[in-house]
Amino acid sequence: MQPNSDWHLHWNNDMLCCTNSAQSYHVDFLNPAFQHRIKSLNKKDPLIRALGLHKSPDVHVIDTTAGFGQDGVCISTYANKVTLLEQSALVHALLQNGLERASNWLAKQKAKIELHHINACDYLSKLNKSEYPDVIYLDPMYPERSKQALSKLPMQCLQTITSPQNDIHLFQIALVKALKRTVIKRPNHAIFWGKPDLSLKGKSHRFDIYLSLNQT
Ligand SMILES: C[S@@+](CC[C@H](N)C(=O)[O-])C[C@H]1O[C@@H](n2cnc3c(N)ncnc32)[C@H](O)[C@@H]1O
Repeated sequence: MQPNSDWHLHWNNDMLCCTNSAQSYHVDFLNPAFQHRIKSLNKKDPLIRALGLHKSPDVHVIDTTAGFGQDGVCISTYANKVTLLEQSALVHALLQNGLERASNWLAKQKAKIELHHINACDYLSKLNKSEYPDVIYLDPMYPERSKQALSKLPMQCLQTITSPQNDIHLFQIALVKALKRTVIKRPNHAIFWGKPDLSLKGKSHRFDIYLSLNQT
């Protein structure tokens, strides 16, 4: 939690909420906006294409920066299995609660999701070769607080309750452990961390794709 933050967790019946003096946020995969995102998700979606799921859905994806799980749950509708990793105890608790409350819907979607409260560098470093995932996905926090990010409540909440991580180190480990590709979501104006094999540009962000050696 960042200093001077007045965000705190509390229960509203079975719903875990993160609240400050002005606003409250909880993870809700059943809300109309997210359900619309899921219904309109198709093989042309930049996230699905960037991860290669339009061609080979039968893959294991590790989402190393789970956050509030929006991308992770989208990925789970195409991938065989998604492992979500989240280093912040508060964010992990909010996400776990959101997944539990949506469990019936997720079961109908046949989503295979595992969530771990762990730093992704530690998790990936300990994997044996037989456990390497096909795809590793990174969506690090944007260092600069853009106007757009500040306008979105989930992002305001994440920026306040998480602490900065060594994202480049995570990227370097991911490159070694991904069997097929590593994908990073970056703001369009951000510098590249290395020369990607491919980059898919959206309105405000892009997906940089680094194919694993046996894929190039
Ligand atoms: C921008 S948010 C991800 C948002 C997410 N893609 C979504 O759709 O909700 C980044 C998250 O990654 C987490 N994170 C950053 N570095 C991490 C690491 N090394 N291991 C695990 N989690 C990490 C942060 O705590 C934060 O919750």
